[in-house]
Amino acid sequence: MPQHVTTAHTPDTSNTIAHREWWRDAVIYQVYPRSFADGNGDGMGDLPGVTARLPYLKRLGVDAVWLSPFYTSPQADAGYDVADYRTVDPMFGAMPDADALVREAHALGLRVIVDVVPNHCSEQHEWFKQALRDGRDSPLRERFHFRPGKGEDGQLPPNDWESVFGGPAWTRVADGDWYLHLFAPEQPDFNWEHRAVHDEFHSILRFWLDLGIDGFRIDVAHGLVKAAGLPDIGHEEQVKLLGSQAVPYFDQDGVHEIYRSWRRILEEYAGERIAVAEAWTPTVERSALYLRPDELHQAFNFEYLTTGWDAAELRAVIDRSLDAMNSVAAPATWVLSNHDVVRHSTRFSEGDEARGLRRAKAATLLMLALPGSAYIYQGEELGLPEVTELPDEVRQDPAFFRSAGQDGTRDGCRVPLPWSGEQAPFGFGPADGGPSWLPQPASWKRFSVRAQEGDPASTLEFYRSALAVRREHPALGAGRDVEWLDAPDGVLSFRRTTARGTVVCTVNLTAEPVTIAAPGTVLLSSAESVGAAGQVSIPADATVWWAA
Ligand code: GLC
Repeated sequence: MPQHVTTAHTPDTSNTIAHREWWRDAVIYQVYPRSFADGNGDGMGDLPGVTARLPYLKRLGVDAVWLSPFYTSPQADAGYDVADYRTVDPMFGAMPDADALVREAHALGLRVIVDVVPNHCSEQHEWFKQALRDGRDSPLRERFHFRPGKGEDGQLPPNDWESVFGGPAWTRVADGDWYLHLFAPEQPDFNWEHRAVHDEFHSILRFWLDLGIDGFRIDVAHGLVKAAGLPDIGHEEQVKLLGSQAVPYFDQDGVHEIYRSWRRILEEYAGERIAVAEAWTPTVERSALYLRPDELHQAFNFEYLTTGWDAAELRAVIDRSLDAMNSVAAPATWVLSNHDVVRHSTRFSEGDEARGLRRAKAATLLMLALPGSAYIYQGEELGLPEVTELPDEVRQDPAFFRSAGQDGTRDGCRVPLPWSGEQAPFGFGPADGGPSWLPQPASWKRFSVRAQEGDPASTLEFYRSALAVRREHPALGAGRDVEWLDAPDGVLSFRRTTARGTVVCTVNLTAEPVTIAAPGTVLLSSAESVGAAGQVSIPADATVWWAA
């Protein structure tokens, strides 16, 4: 039962630039609710905490907020194990808090995207509990992938698939059957061959659309359909294939019919509601298939996220992404960090924090100049580094405990944000010295919002300027193409033209300053000093935007 029934409402965009297809060049900020802001002082971020900080996000200059899951969940995978898709976990608040968040956001002209997790649920989901309770003949088992085991006594898993978090993708229950879980054992996979699963998710989408949300981020969008017969792969093959080619449990063609039906539901609602796929596909061309006109609106560009600080590689992935997305008339998306990967300031640092931050800022200006939509992960606007020295006893990422899987440790990018003050949790919660579910390093005092606000040299003010300039210059973000300009080795330079002006973006990815002829007047630079006109010097690891 819903905890609270509300009427639908749409965002008040009167104080923003309202235009058609807002999502084509939107900047979308990812809030990871447990680590954003803790309103009640229990050490865990919550929805009232987010609502209270919405003016901060408005001031930052983003268009929309995407919230990672806040639904009722035993938190075996930080909320990506959902027990009830229509309620708020008490740890995050209650339904009226979700409603208030959406209303406040809309009043500020911010859109709200919520996560939907359709590949799997929690072992505490009613269907799964009943499937176990009612035994082997339960019709509820058909909504999951239950199978007898192999071997004389059924003591071996039904096939050789492995969990993304490490170990077998199958767990045996007391009566001897096995069930499939591509992630943790607490996350049983739904069987999307079953009509009831489709109907249930249609209803869940409508539930949140009726509340007024503007879109969905679809978790593991590539995983829903499994190859018929659940064929073996072979261990070696599996390791090799993951991420490079299709495996029988990811990116199967059958997923597209599901998203066509979801798109039809989104279209029934006024206000341009959207869906963005978290689809780790082998290529951007495969990602583009999710974005055909009758399917989803966006997909995360993980190929871009995983590209290093290298001019040739970045240029190649930008070209490939734009070609693939333009072939289906979808916007490209650009993303550098999220709650599953090492923060990009640390990825780019090669062990030198200052270099990491320099490159992170340069990478941000590059990302924000490209045509399409950009995603910002909470805390990157503060220049937060990955926390690499968390003691094992505070870690919560199931991937850490199941070893080999995914990145191994995803807690280091999930440490609560520092907002203000002299001691931990630095304004994350209401009290100095109060709890935070993961400890912040003492050095985070200098990264707090309060410490940076008003300081023109700070990362926060740099992000604010970048987003403000992007808003004023549609050539940053709008449109579909880039025009590459001649540039020295290790330097990327491209021009973007729209009816409302021309902008050039130049990125020096080398370790030395480079001298070039200024292509215009400087709009913004990620480094402090660039010459004014004529021959100018761009420092190492820096990006400059020019009005041309
Ligand atoms: C997605 C989420 C990740 C989660 C996994 C399983 O990859 O981003 O955090 O662990 O799905 O739901």
